[in-house]
Amino acid sequence: MSEREPKLSREPLSEASYYAVELDPEAFEVVMLDQRLLPAEILYHRYRSAAEVAQSIKDMVVRGAPAIGVSAAYGLALEARAERRDAESFGRTIGAASALLAGARPTAVNLVWAVERMGVRASQVASLPAPDRADAMQAEAEAIHREDVAACRAMGRLGAERVPEGATILTHCNAGALATGGYGTALGVIRAAHEAGKNVRVLADETRPYLQGARLTAWELRQDEIPVEVITDSMAAHFFKRREIQFVVVGSDRIAANGDVCNKIGTYNVAVLAKEHGVPFTVAAPWSTVDLKCPSGDDIPIEERSRDEVARVGAQVLVGDGIPCRHPAFDVTPARLVTEVFTERGSFEPAKGGTPRALER
Ligand code: MRU
Repeated sequence: MSEREPKLSREPLSEASYYAVELDPEAFEVVMLDQRLLPAEILYHRYRSAAEVAQSIKDMVVRGAPAIGVSAAYGLALEARAERRDAESFGRTIGAASALLAGARPTAVNLVWAVERMGVRASQVASLPAPDRADAMQAEAEAIHREDVAACRAMGRLGAERVPEGATILTHCNAGALATGGYGTALGVIRAAHEAGKNVRVLADETRPYLQGARLTAWELRQDEIPVEVITDSMAAHFFKRREIQFVVVGSDRIAANGDVCNKIGTYNVAVLAKEHGVPFTVAAPWSTVDLKCPSGDDIPIEERSRDEVARVGAQVLVGDGIPCRHPAFDVTPARLVTEVFTERGSFEPAKGGTPRALER
């Protein structure tokens, strides 16, 4: 079912006036804003199974590392509610749904992180009566969602302290409320700086080929009346050279143990430009984005998406039929180019040799 203004059976957990994903606990449905249609259309869909949620992640109805993690957690809560048989059947159902969800997209580690956390909870509650274990799985998914919003708030406050008064901030892709449980990581820093009265303005890279910057970041900032201008990715060098950019903040899909940062394709270009022009290049991400099992950026799987996302914009054909295109969806910025990473646990400075290990608990 699709709706323009879905009525949820409780207040959304997102702290924005819109949300990427929420659970409707009475209907027991996952409700998602279709981000493929923004900004032209606001349409929410309802899903009833982990398979439908996994497909929505693959199809980019929902995207952004923390948001797909929250979605997967809710997908497993749906399965837990529907499965009324014994502990063994429950374990099998959750196992199969987990494999489906974890395989939906490869790069953002938040997806696997959320599935694994739900899996731990599932094994703790498997032998409880069916309604109790379903309640426990729902509570765990909601905790993942609430903790993500709180993490965004915390890293936003920390990052905002580093933003110079009156700065023009460059950001790439969309790391806002739409990409998280609500509020945003990189946009959380920008929102917190704005809320602190720092008089900031934003240059949003359009973010070819999927245009998350043009379609989503600009739309979000406009909702909050934060001044924003969209530029094509190729214009960034020009604005750096003219000293029109004082600060860069982006999100991340996976941070390796050595401090290398994986994010949307084109982020590495921005980091090289920032270094050349002496501008701080910073990253905001929750701890669920840190992958200490991944020694360096070279070990991060990079998603290859379809040729058509490069060869077309909507119905408009840009590249002639049969001409191949390349489409890595992410790139890795080496630690030496990353000035500071903000998390809810504190920050570290990869360019000075800092790594996430300093914040490990
Ligand atoms: O392909 P997407 O749109 O899921 O990629 C999203 C990004 O690269 C974001 O910058 C990243 O997930 C951080 S979101 C808080």
